[in-house]
Amino acid sequence: MLFRQLFDAETSTYTYLLADEASRAAALIDPVLEQVERDLKLVEELGLKLVLVLETHVHADHVTGAGALREKTGATVAASARGAPCVNRQVAHGDVVRLGNLEVKVLETPGHTDDSLSFLCEGRLFTGDALLVRATGRTDFQNGDAGQLYDAITSRLFTLPEDTVVYPGHDYAGHALSTIGEEKRHNPRLAGKTRESFISFMESRQLPPPKKLDVAVPANRACGRTEPRSQA
Ligand code: FE2
Repeated sequence: MLFRQLFDAETSTYTYLLADEASRAAALIDPVLEQVERDLKLVEELGLKLVLVLETHVHADHVTGAGALREKTGATVAASARGAPCVNRQVAHGDVVRLGNLEVKVLETPGHTDDSLSFLCEGRLFTGDALLVRATGRTDFQNGDAGQLYDAITSRLFTLPEDTVVYPGHDYAGHALSTIGEEKRHNPRLAGKTRESFISFMESRQLPPPKKLDVAVPANRACGRTEPRSQA
């Protein structure tokens, strides 16, 4: 499996490129609109064909590159049925998305948003904004729910093998990756914490809304195509 981790410094967003080396079929997870040319150049340089874009959720902090990538490459855009209506393929818990000879397993991990998914491929777990390195996604907008997030992380992610590598959707502290075992032991919001204490911590946080919330959510429901619509 060919794998790259890419970063958008303005929004601290990670984008991931995965590809099947034999067939050259490639997928991007959570592309950022401003980085579409960078991502396509890398795909071309590595001799890959972009066939799939996976979205972990409808993002509030950046505009997705999914729609632009679909227009340029014909790639299929896949995300949760609870998410953006613009996608080509709606996936649900337990689904497997094929990428050449690779299999990407879909795990529903709601709580940051109600449409949040994680993707598991060959020991790599892409957690979106559900589980971050030593943190979690926030739960105070887009139908977020702290109890649901605790349940998703503890029952669906922390039950995976401890050496599963965690690749988060964002990082604000300089981390690139972690493992399930490491997060079980050292994530300060989860290690040794009850469901009740997790919920009260998440509800006690007073965070400003994401800077791009009003722009990003409607744009991302349209796969990132931000052309003004007619008022009619
Ligand atoms: Fe998010």
